[in-house]
Amino acid sequence: MIDQATIDRIMDAARIEEVIGDYITLKKRGANYTACCPFHNEKTPSFSVSPARGIFKCFGCGKAGTAVTFVMAHENTTYWEALKVVAKKYGVDVKERELSPEEQQHNNDRESMMITAAYAQDYFTKTLHNHVDGKNIGMAYFAERGFTKATIDKFQLGYCLDSRAAFSNTALRDGYKKEFLVKTGLSVERNNGELIDRFFGRVIFPIHSVSGRVVGFGGRTLKSDKSVPKYVNSPESEIYHKSNTLYGIYFAKKAMMQSDKCFLVEGYTDVISMHQAGIGNAVASSGTSLTADQIRLIKRFTPNVTVLYDGDAAGIKASLRGIDMLLEEGLNVKTLLLPDGEDPDSFAKSRSVTEFTDFISQHEEDFISFKTKILLSDSKNDPIRRAEVITDMVRSIAVIPEAIPRSVYIRECSKLMEIGEDVLTGEVAKLRRKKLYDDARDAPRPREPQPTAAAGDAAPPEAVHTPSIPAFVENIFCREQERELIYLLLRFGNQSCFSVRVSAYIINEIAGEDLSFQNLVYRQIFEEYRKLLEASETVDIRRFINHPDQKICELTIDLLSQKYTLSKIWKQPDTPDLEEDRLRVEVPKAINVYKSKIVTQAIMHLQLELEGKSGEELDALLLKLGELNKVRTKLSEMLARPVF
Ligand code: UTP
Ligand code: MN
Repeated sequence: MIDQATIDRIMDAARIEEVIGDYITLKKRGANYTACCPFHNEKTPSFSVSPARGIFKCFGCGKAGTAVTFVMAHENTTYWEALKVVAKKYGVDVKERELSPEEQQHNNDRESMMITAAYAQDYFTKTLHNHVDGKNIGMAYFAERGFTKATIDKFQLGYCLDSRAAFSNTALRDGYKKEFLVKTGLSVERNNGELIDRFFGRVIFPIHSVSGRVVGFGGRTLKSDKSVPKYVNSPESEIYHKSNTLYGIYFAKKAMMQSDKCFLVEGYTDVISMHQAGIGNAVASSGTSLTADQIRLIKRFTPNVTVLYDGDAAGIKASLRGIDMLLEEGLNVKTLLLPDGEDPDSFAKSRSVTEFTDFISQHEEDFISFKTKILLSDSKNDPIRRAEVITDMVRSIAVIPEAIPRSVYIRECSKLMEIGEDVLTGEVAKLRRKKLYDDARDAPRPREPQPTAAAGDAAPPEAVHTPSIPAFVENIFCREQERELIYLLLRFGNQSCFSVRVSAYIINEIAGEDLSFQNLVYRQIFEEYRKLLEASETVDIRRFINHPDQKICELTIDLLSQKYTLSKIWKQPDTPDLEEDRLRVEVPKAINVYKSKIVTQAIMHLQLELEGKSGEELDALLLKLGELNKVRTKLSEMLARPVF
């Protein structure tokens, strides 16, 4: 059997659009994806996939289900087999044996912790509503902050009495185990074994998981004494991981989907006040800097995020890092700067809903203009400062994974900073490649001796970068060159050149500028290789030889057994490993040949397009043509040089 924790892990990891996307082509429409239904014959798409809900449904034939049931139906397998398919895709380890008593215990522990947390929430809420101190202290505090009864109920706010162990003692009396009270962090065990309440004397903000279960708490002190921490939070535990939790996500997810947008704020009270003001798509990172997991959580519901900032400078500078992280995860980021001294909480309170929403629509700006404004502030005419700002912007733009938004931001940055788009494009491309190389270099080293390490004091040769293809060029089909590159990847991928792996070099030079193979099998091998390489530095070629996909398996065997004649160098029936010097020539060459084929084709297309064009249209095409010709010249120069 597959235990529940594993099933949970698989379902948590699975993104339905990715799983289904492996079988059919999905088109994005708003928050969802559509396609022609694979389960019945149709010409117009009525098959819809909702990433947020993790389900698909066909409005034509009525078939519906999850990622796993889709695989089941499509591959005609049992549920368990389908589950394993999905697990494999996401690298989730599937335990198929019986659970050991300890594992059983572990699962039960998690559940017990959840139950204990739910009990505590109920206890704190009841204390707030019914206990004399709850009413006079806790409720009075919330009222003073302007929280309505509906808000207090919705967020299940509570109060923990200001007596050291009132909660712990009640919980023990009600049969809750000490072990789970301590594991959830609700109680703290003293040396003498006694329990005291972590949250005593504080108002309570329960923290809910995406599915609405209470997993942790934040407790705010009512004292203005600066030596007391303002908030005490649940510690990390098996049920509460701060780095993948967002405060308010359970209450916000629906509004996030409906509005296709999310507001990101800092604190508990900011979220609550915004919800109370009718802005239901707000969540908080709870004071810490944003993590990649939190960003992915947002992305499940919408790719559009507006980050709200208080008007103080320190906060803004710190948050610029968060923006880069959001960009890196492919989100569309906007920012909203609140007037000096205001936070979302105070702002929402002092304005009507319309005033607030008007302010948002008038002051929301994209990150480029926000960052420019912040970084330039008062030194607008200082050329050195300007150059620094441009470098900074280029760095932010370079982390954006998709080519189209990248070029949109480049255009905007070019306008704002009055600097040529081509210069920016070049700089962005340079950084992107550098990052890919750095990543490849930072990857864990294999155990076998490194040929480059043996070189002693000689500095490793600088990598030869092949010229960049302009972003407007569409990929074209060049089977032979793609095949050659796949051959190099599979055959020499684990050897090194330019002090990185041949595989890393090829992948960086190609994927680094968003080129992708047009032949589906080659592309699949390339992508799979890339993923494997991200996980470890060497890739075991047997993965491809024994690949479950017959086409990949056959192609790999063909390539490695030299059944086909590749370019002249590889003609010998059994190619030995090549010297590094040799690879340093042959690998960039193969990439340059590939690129040159693409560029030549693109030039031909452009020349055809030129016919009958005039005015601005013609100018634009000529500009592109000029750019392409430059790249072609560079490529032929490099190809003409015998040794790099
Ligand atoms: P803030 O200091 O802005 O608190 O910290 P707040 O939420 O606006 O609270 P009020 O309005 O003063 O009552 C932002 C967030 O940082 C975390 C909390 O999640 C808080 O909501 N934080 C702050 C802590 O975890 N511990 C602290 O001591 C302070
Ligand atoms: Mn506040």
